[in-house]
Amino acid sequence: MTEDISKILVSEEEIKEICSRLGKQISEDYKGKKLFLVSVLKGAVVFMADLMRNITCDCEIDFMAVSSYSGTKTTGVVKFKKDLDINPEGCDILLVEDILDSGVTLSYLKDVLIGRNAASIKICTFLDKPANRQADISADYVGKIIPDEFVVGYGLDYDEKYRNLPFVGVLSSKVYADK
Ligand code: IMP
Ligand code: MG
Repeated sequence: MTEDISKILVSEEEIKEICSRLGKQISEDYKGKKLFLVSVLKGAVVFMADLMRNITCDCEIDFMAVSSYSGTKTTGVVKFKKDLDINPEGCDILLVEDILDSGVTLSYLKDVLIGRNAASIKICTFLDKPANRQADISADYVGKIIPDEFVVGYGLDYDEKYRNLPFVGVLSSKVYADK
């Protein structure tokens, strides 16, 4: 599996530092509020698990599932596969994502939650790839800004593979060149 990675972009050590920094900041910002962490399946589960253990204020978690990707390309159309269990009305929601790329997914989810009268909606993304942005959206909390390369590991996949790598790496283009 690691032979398909051309470069490590975020090491295990840096991941720990990022989660600690974001957790502290979020804990301060949401002190005294009831925070709902909403993670987007499946890519963000690993980050969610690390981030929540660095948050010291009261919080609940919930999950949504959408898909917009086929291989390494976004289709631009978001499909809703699993809705929230909680009713977001009146809740302070923090959307937890693995990567903000075109922004199509998060801007769609944000609109859905606004429509359901959440009290506030903010975005925390582990990675931000601004070069490829199509939607008018930015994150309130960003782990790391990365160049426009297709990355895998730490929850991120290529056709459901590589999610279990403990670091984030650039996927060698030879893996998908002939697909
Ligand atoms: P967006 O809608 O284009 O912002 O993309 C959102 C989703 O696409 C992310 O949550 C990821 O699941 C996936 N994605 C975007 N870029 C990458 C990448 O470099 N590697 C793996 N998945 C990616
Ligand atoms: Mg995702």
